[in-house]
Amino acid sequence: MLSRDDVFNELGIGPVWRLRETPASPLSTLDARLSTPHTWDTLAEAVAHCTACKLHASRTQGVLGVGDRHADWLIIGEAPGAEEDAQGEPFVGQAGRLLDAMLASIGLARGQNVYITNVLKSRPPGNRNPEPDEVSACRPYLLAQIDLIQPRLILALGRVAAQSLLDTDEAIGHLRGRAHQFRGVPLVVTYHPAYLLRKPTEKALAWEDLCLARRLMQAAS
Ligand code: URA
Repeated sequence: MLSRDDVFNELGIGPVWRLRETPASPLSTLDARLSTPHTWDTLAEAVAHCTACKLHASRTQGVLGVGDRHADWLIIGEAPGAEEDAQGEPFVGQAGRLLDAMLASIGLARGQNVYITNVLKSRPPGNRNPEPDEVSACRPYLLAQIDLIQPRLILALGRVAAQSLLDTDEAIGHLRGRAHQFRGVPLVVTYHPAYLLRKPTEKALAWEDLCLARRLMQAAS
């Protein structure tokens, strides 16, 4: 039987991560918007009242995230859309329904060992792409969430999430299908559900990514 290290080696990824024992880097780099040590309450409060970027002027509300706050699986999308902005929860629209189906295909369900959030907590007007200053302004919140959740695996949905987490401009077609890491946490990139709705033929590749993520999770557990 393959050991956990064998599986990681087979997948071409580095040392075994002991995520629970090795917390992400200290959050002392977070700016003064978050008290240290932060809690879910201080984080929610900070996001609700955040004016760190221009998006606060047009959003209905900040959308922090949803799900199990001790989840092994952390799913990170791009930014709230119109329905998410109205309801205050990520991925509640059509793309969200596809995301739920993707999760179900590997035996997962929203809120059960899964936490879902976005790179941006505020909706960009007209659903335009996030701008670099907006991603930077929101980053402390994402780092704080990762610090609080201590996930065993991150699934990055789409180009914006993948490139901003991995700090690269490599195309998503090259980033998907292999294992990365973010601050010591294994990270898998796959296509955004909104893209899969437009291009259903790519669902087979997304399925491969989900299977890779599941294998990594099994190996880490
Ligand atoms: N797309 C995203 O990236 N996030 C959402 O919450 C909804 C749609």
